[in-house]
Amino acid sequence: MAGDDTSAARSNMPAMELVRPLVLAIETSCDDTACAVVDGEGRVLASSVSSQLAAHRPYGGVVPEIASREHLANWPAVAATALSPLGLAPRDADLVAATRGPGLVGALLVGLSLGKALAYALGKPFFGVHHLEGHLWSPFLATGGEPAAAPPQRFAALVVSGGHTALYGVDGGAVTTLAETRDDAMGEVFDKLGKRLGLAYPQGPLVDKLAETGDPQAAPLPVPRVEGELFFSYSGLKSAAIRRLEALERGGVTVDAADPPQPVRDLLAAFRAAAVAQLVDRVERLYRQRRFELLAVSGGVAANRLLRRELVSWAAAAGVDLRLVPLAYAGDNAAMIAFAALQRHRRGEPGDPWTVEAESRIPLG
Ligand code: KG4
Ligand code: ZN
Repeated sequence: MAGDDTSAARSNMPAMELVRPLVLAIETSCDDTACAVVDGEGRVLASSVSSQLAAHRPYGGVVPEIASREHLANWPAVAATALSPLGLAPRDADLVAATRGPGLVGALLVGLSLGKALAYALGKPFFGVHHLEGHLWSPFLATGGEPAAAPPQRFAALVVSGGHTALYGVDGGAVTTLAETRDDAMGEVFDKLGKRLGLAYPQGPLVDKLAETGDPQAAPLPVPRVEGELFFSYSGLKSAAIRRLEALERGGVTVDAADPPQPVRDLLAAFRAAAVAQLVDRVERLYRQRRFELLAVSGGVAANRLLRRELVSWAAAAGVDLRLVPLAYAGDNAAMIAFAALQRHRRGEPGDPWTVEAESRIPLG
């Protein structure tokens, strides 16, 4: 990219110093169409996310075919929203990145094909990014156009989303999976319990909000613990909470999703407390097994209020540097995909071959 292109961009953002390379990223792994531009210091210059909630809401969950079509329809406006205020065009990118999986293959293919085609036409390197790797680095991103924090060589990462609940060890670029869920992901059980209550998709944030108004001690729910084990398990908690809800209904409690009665709010508070306690328990176990100085927490569920409060307390007591993803980058977004690609570029990787494919499941580490 020529220097005069940079000054054109700068004229729209007088306060920002653009540092090469500029990374243009696309994320279409599920139901959000996202585009972002991140500079060489990890500054998020633009991050636009178009939600497809209205299209999927009548079905109570994401319909893959609709997701793909919506990505195709929404992309031009999403890209314009990100690029136009910066005075940038796609040709100004030095690197192009797109999510290659895991996710819905038809949805992934839209963003991946767009990204590959752009990079191919521009003669720029292309990075097909693992969606969870995007989440994993996102806690280092800053808001307000500030540069990203420099990730240390080694850290522990907790990724909590709608499809994944996992602990990773990161050493340089190498990611090792330390623990995963044996059944449901944490976000998934928030969504399923909320759906049973009659809440609209995505139910997780609404369950979190209602739980704030309940008493978690009124009737607590258990936290599964297997001596010496790090793995997560959420399906037992989901079933226990749904059984309690059914018992309340049999007892004459009317479950009104818009304004649930106090026993339902208490149930949601107990459910959330048990879900979060399991996370904190596993983080504490990992810490006892292998000390770490920094914990990076990310994923859509990292927006959960109790999760944030409890991990802040735990980290303060343990003396661990806690990096909670900024709320703006907790849910799916393309800034995290750009930043993950930037990490790979910084390590000297040339990018991926044009043959890189979209995949619904890809192991990470
Ligand atoms: O990372 P994300 O946007 O997409 C995936 O990669 O899955 O995570 C979405 C998940 C959904 O299950 C959503 O209900 C959940 O994150 N979520 C929450 C909260 N905000 C979003 N779950 C609990 N509490 C929240 N505040
Ligand atoms: Zn995600």
